[in-house]
Amino acid sequence: MNQARPEFELGKDLVGLEGLSGATITGILDTAEPFKEISERAIKKVPVLRGKTIVNLFFEPSTRTRISFEFAEKRLGADTVNISSSGSSVVKGETLVDTARNLEAMRIDMVVIRHSSSGAASFLADRIPSNVINAGDGQHEHPTQALLDMLTIRDRLGRIEGLKVCIVGDIVHSRVARSNIFGLQALGAEVAVCGPRSLIPRGIEELGVESFNHIEDAIEWADALNILRLQLERMSTGFIPSLREYNRVFGVTRARLARAPRDTVILHPGPINRGVEIDSAVADGPQSVILPQVTNGVAVRMAVLYLLAGGVPGGAEAAKQEIS
Ligand code: CP
Repeated sequence: MNQARPEFELGKDLVGLEGLSGATITGILDTAEPFKEISERAIKKVPVLRGKTIVNLFFEPSTRTRISFEFAEKRLGADTVNISSSGSSVVKGETLVDTARNLEAMRIDMVVIRHSSSGAASFLADRIPSNVINAGDGQHEHPTQALLDMLTIRDRLGRIEGLKVCIVGDIVHSRVARSNIFGLQALGAEVAVCGPRSLIPRGIEELGVESFNHIEDAIEWADALNILRLQLERMSTGFIPSLREYNRVFGVTRARLARAPRDTVILHPGPINRGVEIDSAVADGPQSVILPQVTNGVAVRMAVLYLLAGGVPGGAEAAKQEIS
C-alpha cells in the first residue's frame, strides 16, 4: 500500500506517484484547476514559465503526452525543444545520461522524458540537476496520465475518496495502471483490476487491489472504469488467444454497460483500439470522458511544470492573474 504522508511535498522531480501523499496529489489537482481556463482563451498564453527552457525527450512513440506537454509548456511561456531518439545522437550510441548532460551544458531547466526502460526517469533524475518529469517509462509509471485521469473523475463525480475504480485490460504491461493504483489509493478510492489472468500481475492483491475475472462483475462493482489498450508490442506470444476472443470476453460493450447499476464513468488513456477493449458506442457515448481526459492533460501538465519550477499550491490563480 502507498505510505501516505499528510503534507504537500513534491521534490525536484516527478518520476511517479508511488509514495506521494494524498495532500500532494490533491495539491497538484487543485493547482490544475485555474490553469484549465488558459486553454479556453483566444490567446492561450501566460508568462508563468517565461525564461525557462524545457527539453521534451521522447524515446518512444507518443501522440497525447508529447503534444500535451508541449502545449502546456508553450501556454506557460517556456521555451521548448523536442528530441526523439531517431533524430538524435542516441542512434550513434550516445547514452541517455550523456545526451542529458550535453543538453544541460546548454543551460536547460527541465527534462520531460518518455523511455521504453522502466526506471529511466529516476535514473536520469538522480544524475542531472534539472527537474525531470516522467512521461512514461517502460512498465513502471506514467504519473501525469494518472493525475489527469483522477482530475477527470473528480470533475465528473465530484470526489475521489470512497469511489470504486476498476482498471480493465492489460494490467501487467501498464505503467498507467500502476500510477493510477498509487494515486487513487492515496486519495482514498477503492481500486480493482479486471482482465485475463495472464494480464494481471501476480501478487496485485498485496497492493490492496481487488481482482475480477469477469467484466460483468467489474461493471457491477465500479463507479468508473479505466479501460486499457492491449499492449501487443510488449507481449510475447500467448497472453491472449486472439483479439476477437478478448473482445468477446472482456470488451466493454454497450450491451454490457447497459446492465450497470449506475452511470459508470468510462475512461481510456488512449490510444484506443476500437472493437477490441472498447466498442465505439461506449468510447463515443455519453458516459465516456475520454476527450475531457485529453483536455485535462494540458492543465495537469501545466500544474506539474509550475510546481516543479517553484510555484506553490494555491498560487496558480494569483500567478496567472498577476502577469496575464
Ligand atoms: N496516454 C498516452 O500516454 O498516450 P500517448 O502514448 O499517445 O502519449
